[in-house]
Amino acid sequence: MSGYDDRDGQIWMDGKLIDWRDANVHILTHAMHYASSVFEGERAYNGKIFKSRQHSERLKKSANMIDFDIPWTVDEIEAAKAEVMAASGLTDAYVRAVAWRGAGEDMGVASARNPVRMAIAAWEWGAYYGDAKMKGAKLDISKWKRPSPETIPSHAKAAGLYMICTMSKHAAEAKGCSDAMMFDYRGYVAEATGANIFFVKDGEVHTPDPDCFLNGITRQTVIGMLKDRQIKVHERHIMPEELEGFEQCWLTGTAAEVTPVGQIGDYNFEVGSLTRDIAAGYEKLVRL
Ligand SMILES: Cc1ncc(COP(=O)(O)O)c(C=O)c1O
Repeated sequence: MSGYDDRDGQIWMDGKLIDWRDANVHILTHAMHYASSVFEGERAYNGKIFKSRQHSERLKKSANMIDFDIPWTVDEIEAAKAEVMAASGLTDAYVRAVAWRGAGEDMGVASARNPVRMAIAAWEWGAYYGDAKMKGAKLDISKWKRPSPETIPSHAKAAGLYMICTMSKHAAEAKGCSDAMMFDYRGYVAEATGANIFFVKDGEVHTPDPDCFLNGITRQTVIGMLKDRQIKVHERHIMPEELEGFEQCWLTGTAAEVTPVGQIGDYNFEVGSLTRDIAAGYEKLVRL
């Protein structure tokens, strides 16, 4: 299997489509050294990117949160994604937009003089957690905590936030798990390394208050679906000892979609009817 840098196709970079293999940056790119990078993960279904505009808006907001401006408007980003989709020939695709501080006059921590760059690629990407989508994913519990909003701009979809996610996921995979659940800096249940988390108890749904992590677009969509079904949703702080009492659990995210969870550490959950209903309902909704 070839690497992601060695594929046929085209990538949009700084205003135009270029050959996939030519979409490179210089080693003295600021983002590479100091994580001055933000990105989006999006999925297209039947040729249409689900909630595309919301993703483009979030990309721009994430950049502002880490102190740079993307030199493209939301409309221009939308047009660029459409160009990428058309060039890819794909109807169902994962779309990755990324913006970063490039190489330039600055090589220290400050980099106001370096150009801000942007690229968009699309490729085919199946179920993020493989067959866990049917059976229920097995999650490890991470030793890393989601940081306080006073420590880092926790609501940005920024590269720097993912360092602990990568380490958590490596540790989880080494134990045969698909992912890891992370607590936050206060010890409350937070999310997985690239997806939000929901629990079911007595017919009601509980999900952590996203006060120190990404309030995912899928999370917000699923909360809307639950409310449409007249199901009570509690967005609140969830203590670790509550895991014992929850009956069902699922993850939400653009890549993860709605993935049932069967196990977190020593706690077990059934892939129950509400989980299945929401997973199927989401699959339907994204293709409407
Ligand atoms: C850390 C993290 N949390 C939550 C999410 C879910 O966000 P969304 O539903 O907007 O894809 C993602 C994925 O984008 C993520 O990386």
